[in-house]
Amino acid sequence: MQQTIAPHGGILINRVASPEQSANFFSQKVHLKTISLSQRALSDLEMIAIGGFSPLTGFMDEADYDSVVETMHLASGPVWSIPITLPVSTALADTLELGETLALLTPHGAWVGVLELTGKFTYDKTREAAKVYRTTDEKHPGVKVIYDQGEVNLAGPVWLFERKPHPEFPSYQVDPAASRAAFVAKGWKTVVGFQTRNPIHRAHEYIQKCALETVDGLFLHPLVGATKEDDIPADVRMRCYEVLLERYYPQNRVILAILPAAMRYAGPREAIFHSLIRKNYGCTHFIVGRDHAGVGDYYGTYDAQYIFDEFSPEELGIRPMMFEHAFYCKLTQGMATPKTSPSAKEDRIHLSGTKVREMLRRGETPPPEFSRPEVAKILIEAMQPKG
Ligand code: ADX
Repeated sequence: MQQTIAPHGGILINRVASPEQSANFFSQKVHLKTISLSQRALSDLEMIAIGGFSPLTGFMDEADYDSVVETMHLASGPVWSIPITLPVSTALADTLELGETLALLTPHGAWVGVLELTGKFTYDKTREAAKVYRTTDEKHPGVKVIYDQGEVNLAGPVWLFERKPHPEFPSYQVDPAASRAAFVAKGWKTVVGFQTRNPIHRAHEYIQKCALETVDGLFLHPLVGATKEDDIPADVRMRCYEVLLERYYPQNRVILAILPAAMRYAGPREAIFHSLIRKNYGCTHFIVGRDHAGVGDYYGTYDAQYIFDEFSPEELGIRPMMFEHAFYCKLTQGMATPKTSPSAKEDRIHLSGTKVREMLRRGETPPPEFSRPEVAKILIEAMQPKG
């Protein structure tokens, strides 16, 4: 039987409780203290449960947290670049005893899982910001989350009660065990994962297709967890991906699936994190382009590529495919990067995100060299003022 790439740490974690386990937890419910999860913590719970964060089985204890913040490795050795924590207020933490089972609630109060509390620890928010985000500026959306959250991290293994279909995109919910099976079924030995939180423009399409020229399949894996407010909502993006795949991609070479994780905007460290997640989904390769997972001017254009030099290929397992800034080149009449075209700046069609948003809001279609017209149409409709 064809094998896929090993999950990070060797075993694909499954922390979705069996019906018997769930029934057991439910029978104790009246006695359990409750913790309300933020949208991000809920995404993290889900990611842990389905194995997307393998080898994590729960929220990090102090040893893992310190090790990840300082060295980008778990205390037990594997690479890990982003802390996965469950912060609560000191007042709430003071009421909790180690060894307790805690009921985990969604932001809407529904009971979704449990945490077996094995640790609680205070932490230095500024250190986490400086190390993980490379800035202590509260205007950074990822740093702001840290500053706004509780002072004590709760740690311990988790269980999710039930893997429910995604409310908006059930047919695109392909969890790591399923994506691995799908790659095998298609006979794909090599698969490149593509992270995105934006509509796919020609530059994205170009780097995906360059990558696809050398591997068997493309796993188009947009993130649909929490993003910052001015990012395009996931439902609009999904419509863009659908129309793009229908018209411009060979159906048998691409799988579109959602990633339920939250965006952190941690640039370089998030590029490592994103690649390990895709390894868990079974990808052998991962695309890292310009300013991956960046925001504003916090990171250099290729910092998210340079960080891969800090790890050996063996400890990462998944192979990054790096791309320089792509654009339409009028000189060579095709998509290109500075690596493949001798063009000067004025020969290149590239629009900033802000400029494109302004055009779309005014109902103007960006040039076809920048965005496929079908995608632009969906975006223009979505961006018109409501009512
Ligand atoms: S991200 O926050 O998810 O990284 P985005 O959806 O814009 O944002 O990017 C998805 C991937 O495409 C990332 O790897 C990013 O580096 C890459 N990318 C985006 N635009 C370009 C471009 N013009 N040239 C090369 N790579 C790009």
